[in-house]
Amino acid sequence: KPSYLIAPSILSANFAALGDDVKKVLEAGADVVHVDVMDNHYVPNLTFGPIVCKALRDFGVTAPLDVHLMVEPVDELISAFTDAGADYISFHPEASKHVDRSIQLIIDSGCKPGLVLNPATPLSTLDYTLENLHHVLLMSVNPGFGGQAFIPSTLEKLRQTKQMITERGLNTRIEIDGGVKVDNIRQIAEAGADMFVAGSAIFNQPDYSKVIAEMRQQLAL
Ligand code: DX5
Ligand code: ZN
Repeated sequence: KPSYLIAPSILSANFAALGDDVKKVLEAGADVVHVDVMDNHYVPNLTFGPIVCKALRDFGVTAPLDVHLMVEPVDELISAFTDAGADYISFHPEASKHVDRSIQLIIDSGCKPGLVLNPATPLSTLDYTLENLHHVLLMSVNPGFGGQAFIPSTLEKLRQTKQMITERGLNTRIEIDGGVKVDNIRQIAEAGADMFVAGSAIFNQPDYSKVIAEMRQQLAL
């Protein structure tokens, strides 16, 4: 089995006590912190920018920060997030005029690049980019909001992504984002994902350790 990573999305965390909530979810067994950056332009919602990543770092959060940019344009923000302590930076190809350049900017800044494919974005987007990516992020909901239902056709897309990566002899991670819960995580893993974003499924529960342990139990089956 691959090494699975659980990445709680702080979109559903308590913004009034963010640092404590993030520390709590990491102590509960999370591997990575998923940071949803929305600009009310590329997506119809607004969250936060690099200063929040910096604040988490200054507060003593040392886990990898997985920045999911839902912003347009992309390039101007890359170095700001790198400087603020990001480890992974993912963006939507539709939001960048020059996708290869944006990937290269992320690599040059010292972060690990990922492309995000919306539910309707074809896998051919990966044809000439896959070799440069650390991960592919498949959206299993339309971006913009937490708490939406997993779109079932994503399972077939996961299988095809996995096949493409295997055929090329790569070990690119496959991250899944949207509607991931204890009761579907196993199916999602079997289809090829190895990094799981979960917002509402974790933060809407009183006991984070319990949900994360249940997710790991499903992944171990
Ligand atoms: C949606 C975000 C997700 C969101 C997932 O645009 O990219 O990361 O927080 O939330 P859940 O897990 O509640 O579907
Ligand atoms: Zn996300």
